Amino acid sequence: MLRELIEEKVSAISEQIIELRRKLHQHPEVSGSEFETKAILLEAIKDYDFEIVEGYYNTGFVIIIRGSKPGRTIGLRVDMDALEMDELVDKPFKSQNSGVMHACGHDGHMAMGIAAAIVLNDLKDQFQGNVKLIFQPAEENARSGGGAQFMIADGVLEDEPRVEAMVGMHIWPDLMVGQAGTRVGPMMAASDPFKIDIVGQGGHASMPNKCVDPILIASHTILGLQSVVSRNVDPFEPAVVTIGMLNSGTRYNTIPETAEIIGTVRTFDETTRQLIKTRIEQIAETTATAYGGKATVNYTFGYPSVVNEKGMVDCAEQSIREVLGDENYVNVERPAPGGEDFAYFTQKVPSVFI
Ligand code: NI
Repeated sequence: MLRELIEEKVSAISEQIIELRRKLHQHPEVSGSEFETKAILLEAIKDYDFEIVEGYYNTGFVIIIRGSKPGRTIGLRVDMDALEMDELVDKPFKSQNSGVMHACGHDGHMAMGIAAAIVLNDLKDQFQGNVKLIFQPAEENARSGGGAQFMIADGVLEDEPRVEAMVGMHIWPDLMVGQAGTRVGPMMAASDPFKIDIVGQGGHASMPNKCVDPILIASHTILGLQSVVSRNVDPFEPAVVTIGMLNSGTRYNTIPETAEIIGTVRTFDETTRQLIKTRIEQIAETTATAYGGKATVNYTFGYPSVVNEKGMVDCAEQSIREVLGDENYVNVERPAPGGEDFAYFTQKVPSVFI
């Protein structure tokens, strides 16, 4: 009965939600500057008389839906930011902000969040307790800490009504439309950026004997780093070490003074995470020393692993089976090596990331 009512209400707003998604897609903004995004969202709900609380970490805000009877409070997390990249496809709703694109699908998450708010608000006579929809900026900003932990620090979970459990969702290309899935335990990886600064001795390309070549040091260092997963990490523990940037030199005929290596580490287990950090430091420092230079490693513990709690997973699974059908529930066998700052919510309250 309730399910039919929900479906009816969702169909009634589906056109306006598709339109909202496309509008958000046209106006993507990078982490920390989601001002127009927030304005579009508030405009979309201006006729609904929602209880809105602003002021959580810059553009973060919450919509509180209070059920007619008292009860506990669940939080739904919605991320808001886009990525620094050009949109190459040509759709009528393509990005209008050059160099920025909703390539991770957070425009879809926001539209879903607004739809949930509208439908839950319509049905608030039907449930006990409260729902707090948390619109969170700067999910993509792993190098500066991400929006989730700052919203938590600003009291988004503790403020009345206090959130006792969290649900997050990410649209996912491996699943078919109409499917949803999750798993117990680790769901997304810990994601740690690192930077290695190598200092050699610059000079003319024709006199390498008078120089210390940082490019050669960087090359050996990168090869050495690729032995960490294959030779140091337990073969039953998944881990990734990727170098995404290697910068050095300004001319073909000089030996530069410095080189920098920038990369990321993905792990699911805390011991493995610590081990990889230590090995990166050892390999970088000793390799540079071996070739006469010096290396400094700047390793940042980024987002921790998203860990789903069993009770919340059971609850989500039951709902997905009921609403989408048994055949559309996907038991996600392996966690994903991507990073996600929903992890900070999972550290505070029982949570599920779907
Ligand atoms: Ni994302």
